[in-house]
Amino acid sequence: MQVDDMDINSIRGDFPALQEWTYLDNAFVGLFPRQVREGYDEFLDLWMNFSAKKNKTILSEWLEKTEDVRGMIANFIGAASSEIAFTMCTGSGLNIVINGTSWRKGDNVVFPEYEHNPLDTTTLRRSGVESRVLKFQDGKLELNELEKAIDDRTRLIQVSQVSYVNGFRFDLKEVADIAHEHGARILVDATQAIGALKTNVMKEDVDYVSAAPYKYMMGPAGLAFLYVKSDHLEELNPDRVGWKNQIWRGEHAEEPLDQPESAEKFEYGTLHFQGMYGLERSLNYLDKIGMDVVERRNLELSSYLWSRIKDLGKKMYTPPGTKSPIVSFYERDASELSVRLMKSKVKVTGRKAHGEHLRVSPHFYNTREDIDFFIEKLEENV
Ligand SMILES: Cc1ncc(COP(=O)(O)O)c(C=O)c1O
Repeated sequence: MQVDDMDINSIRGDFPALQEWTYLDNAFVGLFPRQVREGYDEFLDLWMNFSAKKNKTILSEWLEKTEDVRGMIANFIGAASSEIAFTMCTGSGLNIVINGTSWRKGDNVVFPEYEHNPLDTTTLRRSGVESRVLKFQDGKLELNELEKAIDDRTRLIQVSQVSYVNGFRFDLKEVADIAHEHGARILVDATQAIGALKTNVMKEDVDYVSAAPYKYMMGPAGLAFLYVKSDHLEELNPDRVGWKNQIWRGEHAEEPLDQPESAEKFEYGTLHFQGMYGLERSLNYLDKIGMDVVERRNLELSSYLWSRIKDLGKKMYTPPGTKSPIVSFYERDASELSVRLMKSKVKVTGRKAHGEHLRVSPHFYNTREDIDFFIEKLEENV
């Protein structure tokens, strides 16, 4: 399907919120298409009617669905199913990596100042690991600055695939190459990219990816996933243990379980099964359009948006030519402005932190007309 062939009216019809809203805030929370509700309904019908298939418990239905969705996520990012663990949120995945790594005093980790979940944790502090925080210059961070901060005691480099502040985007493969040259690993927070841009862990050669699907993936909140490259599975220890990854072999143990040599070993208890049914539908929806089309359309929309804002004479926060779905610009009283825009049914984010700015983040279901309407309302409200 080509971008131009996309039946945008029919797509927009799947998102009830678009009838009322000019919604340009996918970096905050994405919108659900009605197909996702069908997934939730399937889950509710199953549980409320207790209609698990013959000889199956309802739990085994949920676990089967989990395995289906695990395979879909793996396909979506170019990984193997055995490299995917389900978690609660992006931060859970990051903590699994931190807490499961054997640190030595004097190790260091490197991350840019604009990480949403910065890698400064109690585990690292307790272990005597130094956190090296890199400053952005003119809305970006050059790779040579990153490289300068790294030495042979660097164990982990954390970067967001797309910055939640201004959409700045790293070339993940280049960061991975720098990390690997120093014997370090790269941990990617893909929450602002997944579902908007193509993510391919093999091509980018990354070690860990943590992502939540409730933004551009249009999936549930409270369910997320962690990718762990197969080479690292054996040495990364689960930081929490429960019935699902039990290591206890006592008299009352459920069943003697063998630790699976898969990322499933990080799942220790009941998962957000309801979310699995929703996420399956979100993934189907994105697959049907195709991530090539979604990415192309998002980049086209954000490039148009960037130019329109620049033409107003605003000071841009997002560097020119940034290929991401987020465009930010400096604006006084940005939070108050975003509230005024809501009165015109335009949704964007206004924020004080990191330099007062307005952040606008379209998705494939938006149009140039949405952007024109935002510009019109922005001019009326500043
Ligand atoms: C880059 C990034 N990572 C993660 C999150 C959310 O973190 P969590 O899934 O741990 O709630 C956000 C939310 O805005 C984000 O922008």
